[in-house]
Amino acid sequence: MEPTITHVLVPGTFDPITYGHMDVARRARRICPRVTVAVAASLGKRGVGTTFSLEERVELAREALADLDGVEVLPFSGLLVDFAHEVGAQAVVKGLRAMTDFEYELQQADLNYRLDPELESIFVMSSPEYGYLSSSAVRQIASFGGDVSTFVPPCVAAALRTRFK
Ligand code: PNS
Repeated sequence: MEPTITHVLVPGTFDPITYGHMDVARRARRICPRVTVAVAASLGKRGVGTTFSLEERVELAREALADLDGVEVLPFSGLLVDFAHEVGAQAVVKGLRAMTDFEYELQQADLNYRLDPELESIFVMSSPEYGYLSSSAVRQIASFGGDVSTFVPPCVAAALRTRFK
């Protein structure tokens, strides 16, 4: 049987993109020739509004991932399974940091499976150096004027400085 996965989605809120997200995108690209980083217009995990607009989150992700060939960044709204159909992706790749991620990700994978059993969910274990990293922690540190340069690329650090100055 020939492999059927040639295009995967790496979805998320990316508010903002971090080195952890970039690591997941890079690893997705290692296992698949085409990767679409799908930036959700809808609200993320905690159901609250985002710090950066959809356009800003897309732009920052594009800048951060500009060096990775085979990786594109697109916004989406609505259901992830519909977006996967629209762009022709056969799987979703997400990073898992800790057990706390597992339950949430399992629930999302289950829901996506119910909506489209053909859309595969693939998980990569987050690299140990990024296991603690989250966009919300980065936003909090930046909002108090802390140094986020080890967590996010320079373009994102600059955007955070402007947002919280
Ligand atoms: O960065 P996050 O918060 O983990 O990303 C979550 C995201 C955007 C991938 C998820 O909320 C999502 O897929 N939203 C689109 C709406 C959808 O398809 N919902 C049903 C499956 S959860």
